[in-house]
Amino acid sequence: MSTAGERLPPRAQFDRIVALTGAGISVAAGLGTFRGPDGLWTIAPDVERAMHAQYVPGNVDLMWQVWGGMHERAQEAGPTPAHRALAAVGAEVITQNVDGLHHTAGSVDAIEIHGSAGRARCLLCTWDGPAVEAARASGDPRPRCPRCGELVRPAVVLFGESLDEAALAAARRAAATCDLFLAVGTSGRVAPASWLAPLARAAGAMVINIDPVSGDPGPAFHRQVTGDAQRVLAEWAES
Ligand code: OAD
Repeated sequence: MSTAGERLPPRAQFDRIVALTGAGISVAAGLGTFRGPDGLWTIAPDVERAMHAQYVPGNVDLMWQVWGGMHERAQEAGPTPAHRALAAVGAEVITQNVDGLHHTAGSVDAIEIHGSAGRARCLLCTWDGPAVEAARASGDPRPRCPRCGELVRPAVVLFGESLDEAALAAARRAAATCDLFLAVGTSGRVAPASWLAPLARAAGAMVINIDPVSGDPGPAFHRQVTGDAQRVLAEWAES
C-alpha cells in the first residue's frame, strides 16, 4: 500500500465503480460493528455463538436476538448519506451487511453476499420468505414457518455455511471488471468477501479502503482514505 489520504480520486476518472461494504457504513443508522472496541463481539462475546452453523438449531433464539428486528430498525433509521452516495454515483454494490439499507437507498441490484435479516428460512421444509411472515404462535416467542410450523431462522450466512453461489459469482464478476474498487467500513477479516479486493487489484482496478481507523488494509490496496464513510462518500458524490 502507498500513502493514506483524506479524499477519493475524482469520479470522472472511472467508468465502473464497485463498492464492497461492511458494518461500518451502517453505524450512522444506529447499527453496530462486529470487531474493534465498540464491536458486538467485544461488548457481548456470548453472541458469537449466534454466528456459527455448528450450533444450529440450539442457537436459533440467539440468532433472533441478534438479527430479529434489525431489518426493521435499519429501515426506520433509513439509509445513511454514504448509502445514498453510492447509489447516486451508480456504484455496483456488494455488501456483507444484512440490513437492506443499500436497496432502500436505491442500489436495487446490491448483492447481499451474507444474506438478509429481512428474510427467514425454515429449519425443516424449503420455505424461505419475508421474516415478518413467519408467525409467532401464541405463547411461543420464536417465529415459525407459515407452511409447516417448524422453527425458522434468519436468512443470514453463518460461519461454516456456504455463500449463495450466484451471489458470489456476481460479486466476483463485478470485482474483476471494475476500474475502481472501494472497500467501505469493513475490516476485511472474513472470506470470501476479503478475496474481492485482491481480485479487483489483479484485474487492474484502483483499490481503495475507506475507514476512520488508520492502518494498513493489506497489499491489495493502493491507498486508504482515513475518515468516516459518511463524510468521504457524501463529499465525493457531490463533487
Ligand atoms: P467489522 O466489525 O469486522 O468491521 C467494521 C469496520 O468498519 C472496521 O474496520 C471499523 O473501523 C469500520 N468503521 C466503523 N465506523 C465507520 C465509519 N463511520 N465509516 C467507515 N468505516 C467505519 O465488520 P465487517 O467487516 O462488516 O458476517 O464484518 C464482516 C462480517 O463479519 C460480517 O458481515 C458478519 C461478521 O461475521 C456475518 O454476519 C455472516
